[in-house]
This record gives sequence, structure tokens and C-alpha cells, in this order.
Amino acid sequence: MSASRTGHAPRVLVTGATGNTGRPIASRLAELGFAVRTAARGDRPADSTTEHVRFDWADPSSHEEALSGVDRMYLIAPAMVEDPSVLMLPFIERAVEHGVRRVVLLSSSAVPEGAPGLGTVHRALRERAPEWAVLQPSWFMQNFADERHHHGAGLKHDGVLVTATGEGRVGFVDARDIAEVAVRALADERSHDTAHVITGPQALSYGDIAAVLSQVTGRPMRHVQVDGEAVVQHMMGAGIPERYARLLAGLEESIRQGTDARVADTVSRVTGRPPRSFEDFARAHASFWK
Ligand SMILES: NC(=O)c1ccc[n+]([C@@H]2O[C@H](COP(=O)([O-])OP(=O)(O)OC[C@H]3O[C@@H](n4cnc5c(N)ncnc54)[C@H](OP(=O)(O)O)[C@@H]3O)[C@@H](O)[C@H]2O)c1
Repeated sequence: MSASRTGHAPRVLVTGATGNTGRPIASRLAELGFAVRTAARGDRPADSTTEHVRFDWADPSSHEEALSGVDRMYLIAPAMVEDPSVLMLPFIERAVEHGVRRVVLLSSSAVPEGAPGLGTVHRALRERAPEWAVLQPSWFMQNFADERHHHGAGLKHDGVLVTATGEGRVGFVDARDIAEVAVRALADERSHDTAHVITGPQALSYGDIAAVLSQVTGRPMRHVQVDGEAVVQHMMGAGIPERYARLLAGLEESIRQGTDARVADTVSRVTGRPPRSFEDFARAHASFWK
């Protein structure tokens, strides 16, 4: 590990540290000997012993403390914000001025570089950050096993997945594999300076997901195919703001058209280990749906 400006182990700021990727990234970097500072709106993750700051993207007064003495950082956008670049771009400018060298951004395979929102942040990193990587994962397997997510809630309570994706397939990925790619991008001596498209090992339709869950749990689960307007209403009923629900419905239409039906070798190439399959994920989380 190369030393930071101060001659010590590099300090890494991990935003979204209570979430699916931030939590495993923070604990792995701490194991590797980095000085880790976790950041989220609430308290530190229960199992964490690293330094923690309260950080809210929407509250710039919380940003200074988060950035002080930081060499590298992992960025997750604020949740359910249609255009997170408005909050993220000034923060990145400020970070670079503070001497942050390396920035790893969690974006999405559905958002190309330069597109509105996270695509604009992606481009800013390429142009402004001395060292950078952008993670472009497919859809997370964790969406199906989290009661706060409309898919997880629908499956747990009613045994249904409601989408406008039709028969379209997706390279669903386990967030732990995204975290392992992120750890390499943050920890490797040499910065990756690239975008990583990250998928699981297979492209599956939502109908395939329901079939795997039925088989693993012994409980009948099904995919209910609806149109774009009906899926917006369904998401709003689950508490998603209308503008964000419309953005998600647009992404479901892209899935229906086949845009997400790809698999990439990134997890194996970057981590040296194959990505986890959905069947393995379903077995590991089976108690959630039973
Ligand atoms: N889910 C998917 O299928 C998928 C697919 C591709 C890309 N992505 C990207 O992944 C990200 C979300 O990942 P996830 O769904 O697994 O969620 P998550 O990481 O489990 O949860 C979001 C994290 O962000 C923090 N956070 C949210 N709003 C914040 C704010 N305003 N200020 C500071 N921290 C905030 C939350 O912490 P606190 O609530 O404690 O503040 C939490 O730690 C999004 O950027 C999304 O574009 C998701």
C-alpha cells in the first residue's frame, strides 16, 4: 500500500456505509490496513469500529468534516434523487481542492458516461479526478431480499414481482461482488482509471427470478407483467416519488427491449473469483421469502 500525503496508510472515505456495497467495502478496507472513515446520515453501522461521520448529501455543512485528511473516496449518490449531479459535482470539486486523489463512483450499467445525472458525474471524474474508477453494475440481487425495496416487499408479502420488463433479461449481480471490485479499485497501488461494467454470471428475466425463488423456497412466486403506467402506479404505492418512479419505469422499458441482457467478465478479471449466481444468492437468503 502506498503511503498518503501524511506518510500514513491512506484514509478512505466510504459514503453509503450503511448500505449494500458501502458496508462490506468499509470492513474489507479496514482489514487491509487502510484508515477508513464511514459516512451516512445516521449512526455508524452496528458492526463497524472505524471512524464515522454524519454525512448528508443535501447538507453541505456536513461535507467539510467528511473530507478532512481524505486521500481516496467511494461515492454513492443520494437515494431517490432524480439528478444527483447537482449535489455531487460541487462535492467532488471541493474534494479535489482538499487533495483527494482517487474517487470511485457507484453508477449503473443503465447510465452511460455523459448522460444526465450520474453520467455527468462519471464524465466529471474522468476530467477532474487525478485517479478514478466508475462502477457500472447491473441490477442488484439484493433488491429481491430487502423489505424496503418494492420487489423485496412484493415477494415477501404477496409472492409477486410486478414489472414492465416483459421477457427482458438482466445480468443481476450480488452487491458483494460489486463491493469486491470497488475494494480493488480503491486499494490497488495503480488506479484503474476506467469504467467497470459489473454483472452476475447469467442474464435472467424476472420470470426466471420468480422460478428460482419458487424452487428454492418451495413457495409459489410469480412475475406479474404490467405496462409502464401501471408500474409507475405500483411503485408510487410503495412510496417511491413519482418523478423517480417514472425514471425507473423508463429503465424497465429498456430492460424489456433487451438493453440489460449482457454478462461481463469484470468480477473474475478484477477480483480473481467468479461472480455469485442468483441461485446461490436465493439459497443464502431463503429465510427472507419463507
Ligand atoms: N439497486 C439496484 O439494483 C442498483 C442497480 C445499479 C446501480 N444502483 C446504484 O446503487 C445505489 C444504491 O445502492 P443500493 O440500492 O444498494 O442502496 P444502499 O447502498 O443499500 O443504500 C443507500 C446508502 O446511501 C446512503 N444515503 C442515501 N441517501 C443519502 C443522503 N442523502 N446522504 C448521505 N447518504 C445517503 C444510505 O445511508 P443512510 O440512509 O444511513 O444515510 C445508505 O448507506 C444508487 O446510486 C443506484 O444508482 C443500484
